[in-house]
Amino acid sequence: MRFIVMFTLLLAATAAQAQSPVERGRYLVETIAGCGNCHTPQGPNGPIPGKTLAGGNVLEDSPAFTAVAANITQDKATGIGAWTDQQIALAIREGKRPDGSLIGPPMPFEMYRGMADADLAAIVAYLRTVPAIENKAAKSVYRIPLPPAYGPPVTSVTAPPKSDPVAYGAYLAGPLGHCIVCHSPMLPGGRTDMTKIGAGGMQFPGPWGTSVAANLTPSKLRGLGGWTDAQIERAIRTGVSSDGRHLFPPMGFAYYKGIGADDMAALIAWIRALRAID
Ligand code: HEC
Ligand code: HEC
Repeated sequence: MRFIVMFTLLLAATAAQAQSPVERGRYLVETIAGCGNCHTPQGPNGPIPGKTLAGGNVLEDSPAFTAVAANITQDKATGIGAWTDQQIALAIREGKRPDGSLIGPPMPFEMYRGMADADLAAIVAYLRTVPAIENKAAKSVYRIPLPPAYGPPVTSVTAPPKSDPVAYGAYLAGPLGHCIVCHSPMLPGGRTDMTKIGAGGMQFPGPWGTSVAANLTPSKLRGLGGWTDAQIERAIRTGVSSDGRHLFPPMGFAYYKGIGADDMAALIAWIRALRAID
């Protein structure tokens, strides 16, 4: 009897762990990667129902460019429904469309180039299940020259082991979640200053005024050095700062609320391990 109970428990545990690629992809897209934070048009009450990942929204209108989010639903005419899995993967990780043209900012390719093969395949598998929505997005206009490519072809990437929370947290904060892009200073030309990771300072104008990305480093003076883990988790999941203030967009709190407990612990371990910058 005891043997049967143990066997059943073991089976249940295995089933809980084995996530199909589509489930893994859904988890990534709807939580840490938050693709919808850019690709789903927002109304005053958040993401517009019936427009999930259908694009068409202007993300940034600056002297350098007017960026319109693409329709990444399965619609064949206005979305990416006619693309092969390989073409979608190349677009996400390296910023190349099937016609060879380069996808422009602010899609964070500097980070996405580090996306592991298995996670990239999972995201593609999930995108295949997203309902087709017909919505022709206007073309973005880049008044700055785009590079010929974001780097040499990416051959194969593996994620760091989850047993190393700081390294896995860096993978979540970079290649999967691009926290690093918003929370680090930008060098002229648009690249992230990787010598000041987490130091904050980037400005985001919008209907809310201008929000400034926070310093996430352990600096007690200007960063999160004086915060508890629970306060950091609350800020990421709900957008409520340590002093109770509601944080402004564009951080994707609505997506981050679903981040799994292990991934949240890894993100916090990564934040704690950052070099303190005042
Ligand atoms: C910070 C905003 C941002 C995020 C986050 C983002 N994207 Fe994008 N994405 C864009 C913009 C803007 C474009 C269109 C750029 C252009 O017109 O060249 C784009 C284009 C694309 C394209 C090309 C579509 C086409 O028809 O040309 C694909 C595919 C894509 N994104 C998938 C994704 C996926 C999957 C994710 C999440 C893992 C994601 N994006 C996250 C902003 C973003
Ligand atoms: C699109 C840009 C963007 C992305 C992506 C982003 N953030 Fe933020 N974040 C901000 C901005 C802007 C603020 C400050 C908002 C304000 O002050 O109202 C902020 C605030 C925070 C705060 C609160 C700090 C404080 O002092 O109140 C934490 C913690 C945080 N971010 C962590 C993260 C983590 C972890 C990720 C990735 C999972 C992430 N952020 C992704 C833009 C971003």
